[in-house]
Amino acid sequence: MIVGIPREIMPEENRVSATPETVTKMIKDGLSVLMEKGAGVGSFYTDQMYKEAGAQIVETAQEVFDRSQVILKVKEPQYNTNYCKNEADLMHKGQLLITFIHPASPSNHEMVKRLAKNGVTSLTLDGIPRISRAQSMDALTSMSTCAGYKGILMAANKLPKFVPSIMSAVGMIRPINALIIGAGVGGLQALATAKRLGAQTYAADIRPDAAEQALSLGAKIIDTLVPEEVAIGEGGYALQLSEEYLEIEREALTPHLGNMDIVFLSALIPGKVAPVLITEEMVKTMKPGSVIVDISIDQGGNCEITPPGKTEVKHHVTCIGVKNIPGLLPQSATWMFAQNVYNLLHYMCKDGEVVLDFEDEIISSSLTTHNGEIIHEGTREAMGL
Ligand code: NAI
Repeated sequence: MIVGIPREIMPEENRVSATPETVTKMIKDGLSVLMEKGAGVGSFYTDQMYKEAGAQIVETAQEVFDRSQVILKVKEPQYNTNYCKNEADLMHKGQLLITFIHPASPSNHEMVKRLAKNGVTSLTLDGIPRISRAQSMDALTSMSTCAGYKGILMAANKLPKFVPSIMSAVGMIRPINALIIGAGVGGLQALATAKRLGAQTYAADIRPDAAEQALSLGAKIIDTLVPEEVAIGEGGYALQLSEEYLEIEREALTPHLGNMDIVFLSALIPGKVAPVLITEEMVKTMKPGSVIVDISIDQGGNCEITPPGKTEVKHHVTCIGVKNIPGLLPQSATWMFAQNVYNLLHYMCKDGEVVLDFEDEIISSSLTTHNGEIIHEGTREAMGL
């Protein structure tokens, strides 16, 4: 069975779906690997390294898509200007696609329909359940780890001052204050990174468990004033708050903002639009020169005025709305992503063949298209099917 690795074509995407290490592992599992020339260059993996690992390098994406039974990608199929076609239309019946599809997002509906029409079986990595046996396949968690780390570095870089406490001949420089709102995977990594840089850290989350984890990382906790029975649903997950409780939370956060230099926003209920926790009026209360980094921007953002995909200064505050943050940490992000996707492939691989068990929760919750149909529940709902 041939596994194909095309070069990612989204602008500024430097990640790739395999490393030389995972190529070696795939070959050990009895699979063959076909890679598009230069696919790993953005992550500083050369064709030679992949060849030595046992991959066959081919000149064009077309050849990868034509000859492979399985396609591993990082981003959802995109329009390929070389062929004047979406990558979904370079795929054929019976082929398996594994990537982040974000199928419920309206901008991807047309592409998902094409995958179904072309008879492609697709698994979306954002559908991998956060259960313990799927942890090693959870690319979403890996990418949030990257976004938490790199997001804080980006904020520190935009900050017009030192982060840590510095003793100088002209006096003592105080460390900065960083507030992390939403202490999930990305937020906890952001807290740990800010702490390592020498910031004083603060955290707010509506889940007491998350607040406790933030506390253990040395953060001071800011109470959101949202009662636990409103905030927590079945299984301990956060619930979407009503506008009334969001207002209570915004009021609880407001008095702290003027004291912060970095506000890192990563609050989200999976599958929902991100809650607006910082309004434009609240931004106006922040210190001139402070920085907001809003990593929930793909889901609309936690700050009302974050510019999607851009960095802009508004009311003397730098607002970072960069979207593909893991793509700015390509080697680590690729290393983690490639391990996750390999672990999923290995899990499905029996005697050199990839076999899908549709009864398995890991497969059923990520299955997006199969046999000409759109299967993914959230996508069907979003499409009104
Ligand atoms: P997660 O689900 O682990 O954490 C989200 C946290 O937000 C949870 O702890 C939850 O309790 C909290 N939360 C929900 N509503 C809240 C509220 N009203 N107030 C305070 N806290 C609230 O999610 P994860 O994996 O950390 O991702 C966070 C965000 O980062 C997501 O929007 C994700 O899509 C995004 N992300 C962005 C990337 C980028 O490149 N921009 C890359 C990776 C992730």
